[in-house]
Amino acid sequence: MAASGTSTDRINGDDASSLITDISHDHLFSILLLLPLESILSFAMTCKKTITLTRSHTLWKSLCARDWGHSTVDTIITASSPSSSSSSLDWNRLYQRLRNLDRVSCFELTDTFGPSPRASHSLNFFSGCLLLFGGGCEGGRHLDDTWIAYVGDSYKRTVTWQRIISGGPSGRFGHSCAVIGNCLVLFGGINDSGMRQNDTWIAQEENNSTFSWRLLEVGPVAPPPRGAHACCSIDNRRMLIHGGIGLSGTRLGDTWVLFLSENLSFGTWHQTVSHPAPSPRSGHTLTSIGESRTVLFGGRGMGYEVLDDVWYFDSSEGHLGWVAVLFEPMDIAAALARVGHSASLISGGRVLIYGGEDSYRHRKDDFWLLDIQHGRRVWRRLKCEGYQPRSRSFHRACADESGCYLYVFGGMVDGILQPAEPSGLRFDGQLFVVELLI
Ligand SMILES: *[C@@H]1O[C@H](CO)[C@@H](O)[C@H](O)[C@H]1NC(C)=O
Ligand SMILES: *[C@@H]1O[C@H](CO)[C@@H](O)[C@H](O)[C@H]1NC(C)=O
Ligand SMILES: *[C@@H]1O[C@H](CO)[C@@H](O)[C@H](O)[C@H]1NC(C)=O
Ligand SMILES: *[C@@H]1O[C@H](CO)[C@@H](O)[C@H](O)[C@H]1NC(C)=O
Ligand SMILES: *[C@@H]1O[C@H](CO)[C@@H](O)[C@H](O)[C@H]1NC(C)=O
Repeated sequence: MAASGTSTDRINGDDASSLITDISHDHLFSILLLLPLESILSFAMTCKKTITLTRSHTLWKSLCARDWGHSTVDTIITASSPSSSSSSLDWNRLYQRLRNLDRVSCFELTDTFGPSPRASHSLNFFSGCLLLFGGGCEGGRHLDDTWIAYVGDSYKRTVTWQRIISGGPSGRFGHSCAVIGNCLVLFGGINDSGMRQNDTWIAQEENNSTFSWRLLEVGPVAPPPRGAHACCSIDNRRMLIHGGIGLSGTRLGDTWVLFLSENLSFGTWHQTVSHPAPSPRSGHTLTSIGESRTVLFGGRGMGYEVLDDVWYFDSSEGHLGWVAVLFEPMDIAAALARVGHSASLISGGRVLIYGGEDSYRHRKDDFWLLDIQHGRRVWRRLKCEGYQPRSRSFHRACADESGCYLYVFGGMVDGILQPAEPSGLRFDGQLFVVELLI
């Protein structure tokens, strides 16, 4: 047996660890990368050698990529000063900071001729751009405009919106829109005559960042018409919707999955019935967190109550069903229940929840991190630095591909009471960025 260990190793009585440390570093790293963080940390405690080994920046950089995503790592490298190479970053500390994320910083993006103030529109991050459609605005009108803004230069704190002239969906608000693979799919909403819709639309990039909408052929079966439902993509071919307000004005609790055909020329809707399932609701959110899981949170229930429950939808092979996520009562702050919030996927498969309103229609300005990855059950309120956005609800938000920047547009904000605003409500037209401070 090659006794290459130091005397310290022998004092610890571990011939085994001497053997382990005889394995080449590359090999050992490959093995460590298969283990959960807790096991890596216990391995580190085995002896002096393993402590040194597990301090390696190479190892922690790989762990950052594994647990927080390659695009997050790339963003961190780009954001660090250009003079410092990635090898001079303290990846171990960065890992801890990503894990213990406790603050965000906001800044406004200015534009000249952007979309008018609105709420209950859609906003998606697609192909390096923000894509915005429709919504409700002052005077009860429902908009049918589509806007696009390239945000690659948003560090300059300005964006240029461009209105897309195309035969898109009719004016509406409370519709849902998700990026599926390399297209955008929109469903339902409430049109200008106040009628709930059940049409499905698809938008694709054509000829160098112009987009065009077309009505998607779906055959005879489609979910009943609705607005204020929740939707998100579950993979590159499928989209999930749940709930909303139906034709008779009642809240719905049904779950549907849209399958897009390979050539994107048609879609097929299937209703998924499972027990248990989230109760009927509207103004809630669905957020895909990877690993075939979609998180549902909050909304307004049948009795007009505002909800704080969390569910996930499991769409892994052979499954399609809901699982309730249970928290210890002390983990749930009373302040969590909300409707009309946003819930966006950020780095590490976590969900960033912002704003919304409570059962007294008090609008919120708080940021919460929800982490239910790898058996964790974490709710954490994040501090907000920099620009302090006003409390809002029925705004829309989307994160870029790094999961480190969130774009927020519009919503209902508290108006300064004046005759022109009898309800004391205002539609907001502000675009701002929420940056994770890591
Ligand atoms: C709204 O939808 C209803 C039914 O789907 C339709 O009859 C009506 O023409 C639509 N109104 C507008 C303004 O598009
Ligand atoms: C792309 O643009 C060209 C010319 O501008 C046009 O002929 C062509 O139809 C466009 N392609 C699509 C898919 O719209
Ligand atoms: C897209 O348009 C930009 C300028 O609008 C141009 O620089 C770029 O080369 C175009 N790309 C393609 C693939 O046509
Ligand atoms: C919903 O859409 C389908 C297919 O697009 C249509 O056949 C059906 O009549 C619609 N349902 C209702 C209740 O309007
Ligand atoms: C798309 O694929 C389907 C089969 O999946 C086929 O029936 C249809 O004709 C195709 N459409 C186009 C436009 O290629």
